[in-house]
Amino acid sequence: MSVSPWHERFNTLVDQGLDREMRVITSPVGPSVETPDGPKLLFCSNDYLGLAADPRIGDAVARSAKKWGPGTAASRLISGNTSSHAELEKRLARFMGTQAAVLFPTGFQANVGALPALVGEGDVIFSDELNHASLIDGSRLSDAPVRIYRHADARHLEQLLEEEPSSTGIRLVVTDAIFSMDGDLTPIEDICSVADRHDARIYLDEAHSLGVIGPGGRGLAAQKGLADRTAIRIGTMGKAFGVAGAFAACDSDAAGILVSRARSLLYTTGPPVPIVEALIESLEIVEGADDLRARLADNISFFKDLAHEAGVSLIPSDTPIQPVPIGPSDRAMAVSASLWDMGFFVQGIRPPTVRAGTSRLRVTLCASHTRRQIEDLVGALADALETETKNK
Ligand SMILES: Cc1ncc(COP(=O)(O)O)c(C=O)c1O
Repeated sequence: MSVSPWHERFNTLVDQGLDREMRVITSPVGPSVETPDGPKLLFCSNDYLGLAADPRIGDAVARSAKKWGPGTAASRLISGNTSSHAELEKRLARFMGTQAAVLFPTGFQANVGALPALVGEGDVIFSDELNHASLIDGSRLSDAPVRIYRHADARHLEQLLEEEPSSTGIRLVVTDAIFSMDGDLTPIEDICSVADRHDARIYLDEAHSLGVIGPGGRGLAAQKGLADRTAIRIGTMGKAFGVAGAFAACDSDAAGILVSRARSLLYTTGPPVPIVEALIESLEIVEGADDLRARLADNISFFKDLAHEAGVSLIPSDTPIQPVPIGPSDRAMAVSASLWDMGFFVQGIRPPTVRAGTSRLRVTLCASHTRRQIEDLVGALADALETETKNK
């Protein structure tokens, strides 16, 4: 057999320690999972409210699969759109308080489809330097120039807006609400003020805030009373909602453009109805889940307090994403591997997901974790970090 044309390129990744492998779990997602290496306490999923294996949502999938079967067999723009898709979009728009909501199969597809549909030549994107890969790729796919402002720095954003010659086009500020690898928040009040002063619009990705913060889990903009000041809010439903999918909440003109132009919506098979009906169930649960949000907030502060007492330093964050800074990628992966051996599943995050030299463990807390599980994690983290420091 001939040598693969990718042999050398892959070997280079291996030599740099940047090749990746997918770990396997053999049980439903929950605070503890089974794996081929035995049970592990799971501290790296985005199942913030503990709904990924919720039986109410599972039952909705089963009922729907019996009625509809698994496939939609076409793009929604051809024949793959059902009354359930329309019902979900109607409920999402009502939930977000917008004229419309447009459903996408995933959050990645929402961003790589929506941004190039909404802005192009003659427009300008202003993007936070730590935005999620899907926002970066969506911005690149648009024909609009992209100006990158320093992370969470509204003053730098303002400077870039001032430097940009005013034009008749759209000036779109694009930002995560909660940053996916750092867990901090965009300074949304300042971003809104700057945007107002410079006639810019805001595209806010609420992937990690939806379900988690704000009234009824409506996210960061709603929490701050600024929902009306954003033009587009993206919600993803594979995280706190525990299912899969995403939506853009926006006015009806923007929705009309998305349905007519977003290539990741037009040219992909409609989401399966059992997933859509699971999302209708999940939306109802999430909206009424103040008890789970309170438990999650309690788990976050419990973890932070314990980590502080144990001398485990954290990147400052008050959200479920609690990164432990390590630095070199091989060290981050070594600490992750020793935690795995101790019975904890905590992923190491390294380039290109984060900048070189800033590799970390991305610890995530869920409402479903018990205090005992969190205590055990912090003990193991302290041990693993100490061992790694000795081996340096
Ligand atoms: C900010 C942000 N946007 C979008 C996505 C993609 O969402 P999905 O997993 O639904 O594709 C993620 C995923 O981690 C994210 O962190």
